[in-house]
Amino acid sequence: MAAKRLVVLVSGSGTNLQALLDAIAATGTEAYGAEIVAVGADRDGIEGLARAERAGLPTFVRKVKEYESREEWDAALAEAVASYEPDLVVSAGFMKIVGKEFLGRFGGRFVNTHPALLPSFPGAHGVRDALAYGARVTGCTVHFVDDGVDTGPIIAQGVVEVRDEDDESALHERIKEVERRLLVDVVGRLARNGYRIEGRKVVIQ
Ligand code: GAR
Repeated sequence: MAAKRLVVLVSGSGTNLQALLDAIAATGTEAYGAEIVAVGADRDGIEGLARAERAGLPTFVRKVKEYESREEWDAALAEAVASYEPDLVVSAGFMKIVGKEFLGRFGGRFVNTHPALLPSFPGAHGVRDALAYGARVTGCTVHFVDDGVDTGPIIAQGVVEVRDEDDESALHERIKEVERRLLVDVVGRLARNGYRIEGRKVVIQ
């Protein structure tokens, strides 16, 4: 079967993107089941885009402030992604909420990774919020994106213990170690096996 086409969206350091790149390079596109065909971002000058460029991949940037409205930005992002004809779109540290147009085109094949055990601690500060709450375990969640904030059907989760001495950055680093492996595993299985979304349940065939 032909490898599935992935577009990856980033906003920051792109270590999850790098984990996907490394896994695909190590396994081979065919055996992994997917290839990254482009990387997009909502800002420039980030390490995530530099990683894509070093890998020889096309990149694109769509900044919210360059559009008259959020809807126009959303449509422009959707158009840019669509031009690479992806089977799956992966939000790997992409720190923007997409809108109706994007979800209309990519709903059901737009995967996000979040640094907390959803439905606890959604939003932009999942690590900080879990720490402030005093949770003893937290982790990461790979899920399909719906029209809420981190509310879509969960595909897989990884658990990380909170240590007494943790600050946000130490805890986030340990979460990211688990998260990168989880994302590589999940994206590969979705691509190779196919899947169904039944209500809130994701069934990987
Ligand atoms: C990841 O931990 C991801 O879960 C988080 O940003 C980090 C990106 O790291 N995303 C969110 O918080 C989304 N709400 P990376 O740029 O090194 O892959």
